[in-house]
Amino acid sequence: MKAQPGSRAEYFDGWYADMTGSPAKDEIQQRHLGLPPHLLSNSLLGWEGIAEVAAALRLPAGGTLVDLACGRGGYGMEIAARASARLVGIDFSPEAVRQARAGARRLGSGAEFGVGDLAATGLATGSADGVLCVDAIQFAAEPAAAYREIARILKPGGRAVLTCFEPMAWDDERLSSRLRRVDLGAGLSGAGLSMVEVGERPLWRDAERAMWEEAAALDPGDDPALRSFHDEGVRSLATFGLVRRVMASATAP
Ligand SMILES: C[S@@+](CC[C@H](N)C(=O)[O-])C[C@H]1O[C@@H](n2cnc3c(N)ncnc32)[C@H](O)[C@@H]1O
Repeated sequence: MKAQPGSRAEYFDGWYADMTGSPAKDEIQQRHLGLPPHLLSNSLLGWEGIAEVAAALRLPAGGTLVDLACGRGGYGMEIAARASARLVGIDFSPEAVRQARAGARRLGSGAEFGVGDLAATGLATGSADGVLCVDAIQFAAEPAAAYREIARILKPGGRAVLTCFEPMAWDDERLSSRLRRVDLGAGLSGAGLSMVEVGERPLWRDAERAMWEEAAALDPGDDPALRSFHDEGVRSLATFGLVRRVMASATAP
């Protein structure tokens, strides 16, 4: 399966395809975030953060965790394994899903991965004990629809945990329009979830800054994954102080 030509998913397909030939990018990311070599990340959640996310999800053993916009599935597989839960990962990039499946086979994990959108997962209503979304809700074409999808697939009492960045000032035009509209509390409450908590995580930022400083300083040569990592490092450092790091959790009624 391939993403539609010219679509946003096709852009991410290319991003993931480039990574298959670039262990250097993964090594830098894992070193700064404190992640083991098998955990492939495409975001900024570190090892201590994983423990906080896992605790907030309160997954029952044998329950189902859905990792939304899962990328290569590293975080979902780690967190589900800690709770002996089943993992279903969804991403709109067929290439990410292909790599996530290959990673699961390598690790002997029974995790399942499928192609779907943040706002249209294709999963059954009330089928998830937990929904995880790591640094990806900002990509939803229509954020309210993505929050509604989270609420729809959760069982009553199920938990949603999201990490992301929120603007310090909603009208700061130095930030992308995508980031300027991130408001996890309003999104989760607006979708009807309860016990919504949004907490700032300033301690996570030291590793993020160090990672982007190394990315921005490196010479990517002709490695396209390192090139995009380098460019993202430069962009992220330029707006580093304009966003706050947040983790949000909520419960389905
Ligand atoms: C920054 S990466 C994070 C991936 C993964 N959560 C992680 O932390 O490693 C953002 C992910 O969102 C996915 N994505 C972007 N827009 C999406 C959408 N509308 N529906 C589903 N996935 C989407 C991308 O393909 C990509 O895998």
